[in-house]
Amino acid sequence: MFDFHYFTPTKVIFGRNTEDQVADLIKEFGGTKILIHYGGGSVVRSGLLGRVTDTLDAAGISYVTLGGAVPNPHLSLVYEGIELCRKEKVDFLLAVGGGSAIDSAKAIGYGLANEGDVWDFYDYKRKAGGCMPLGVILTIAATGSEMSDSSVITKEEGLVKRGYSSDYGRPKFAILNPELTMTLPDYQTACGCTDIMMHTMERYFTNGGNMELTDALAEGLLRTVKKCAVILRDDPKNYDARAEVMWAGSLSHNGLTGCGNDGGDWMTHKLEHELGGLYDVAHGAGLAAIWGSWARYVYKNCLHRFKRFALNVMEVEDSGSDEEIALRGIEAMEDFYRSIHMPTNLCELGVTATDEDLALMAKKCAVGVGGEMGSAKVLNEEAMLAIYRASR
Ligand code: NZQ
Ligand code: ZN
Repeated sequence: MFDFHYFTPTKVIFGRNTEDQVADLIKEFGGTKILIHYGGGSVVRSGLLGRVTDTLDAAGISYVTLGGAVPNPHLSLVYEGIELCRKEKVDFLLAVGGGSAIDSAKAIGYGLANEGDVWDFYDYKRKAGGCMPLGVILTIAATGSEMSDSSVITKEEGLVKRGYSSDYGRPKFAILNPELTMTLPDYQTACGCTDIMMHTMERYFTNGGNMELTDALAEGLLRTVKKCAVILRDDPKNYDARAEVMWAGSLSHNGLTGCGNDGGDWMTHKLEHELGGLYDVAHGAGLAAIWGSWARYVYKNCLHRFKRFALNVMEVEDSGSDEEIALRGIEAMEDFYRSIHMPTNLCELGVTATDEDLALMAKKCAVGVGGEMGSAKVLNEEAMLAIYRASR
């Protein structure tokens, strides 16, 4: 077991109609002039944005709005947001939406609290010394950005998708009303469940330090999301399953399931970020498409964890060699992806990648991780390319 620090400063308000409390929460955290940042319009169509602005109007809180954060959110909108906030003297950011709106708001916050080009942080050139305070009303359970320290931005020039992590970026509050996720397309619900599971799986498949309590929390979370993803496939309006998944999404990426280990593997995410940057695929679907190939490439190097996963999460039969059990677990996970209509390779993801594309992604991925990375198995550019090839 490794030493760890655990920092989760986000105040969580969970349940039906909790968005009604947004004005009080903004006041509690000192906001007087707000930027409401959102995505492509689902919050306009659902009426949520109107309800939020009505609440702020009634509380006498002034605000400006900026929509347009696309999935794999763009740097250009971040620059636009920074300029708008400076002009309007904004002192608090409110993201209403999913990971894309939240991450874009975090980047705007870094840009406002620091001198120079905000992309420097995503380009690993320097570290942020602060972030403008941020609150969240979440509309999709997926990235965990509502409690996480990360944000992921795509620079359009060169299609470079990069993440930046800092405790400064953790939101002050997160309003989690499971009912707000009921307007999601089924595909996005399944993408979200995949991403949530993957945030814990990235921390689970390690060769560095493990803790029984963390493993028990991780396995419980994974079994719960796996079960609820299937319930939501058949019954998308099931409140309890929505609620379980939403809370799992926050706990999966706030650090809880990484306590006591080496921080995790994270290579499935790194490989997916290149897919998201180049082909603009939904993050969760990209993860599902790459995971099986990654798992088969690395499992022998981390056999004890793959065996444990197979037995305790995928609940496969405990017979045969450790390798056979581990492989059965990987197959069961892929069967689960198929059962919720997630892809298990690039072709099913709808991506036709040339040899040159794969080589470019492996190169960019290797550069992005500083040469090599991974805990289940350390991967270099050649290994990344082999996994991309296997996933085609
Ligand atoms: O843009 P709108 O119109 O809001 O539509 C969105 C979007 O099309 C729609 N949607 C969201 N809530 C809805 C809804 N549609 C109907 N009803 C609702 N209630 O769903 C689509 C996806 O939304 P998006 O915010 O892009 O999804 P997600 O939360 O999965 O965020 C994905 C981004 O987050 C990054 C990903 O790489 C990707 O760029 N990640 C961020 C992380 C973090 N900050 O900690 C960690 C993750 O690993 C991930 O990398
Ligand atoms: Zn993710």
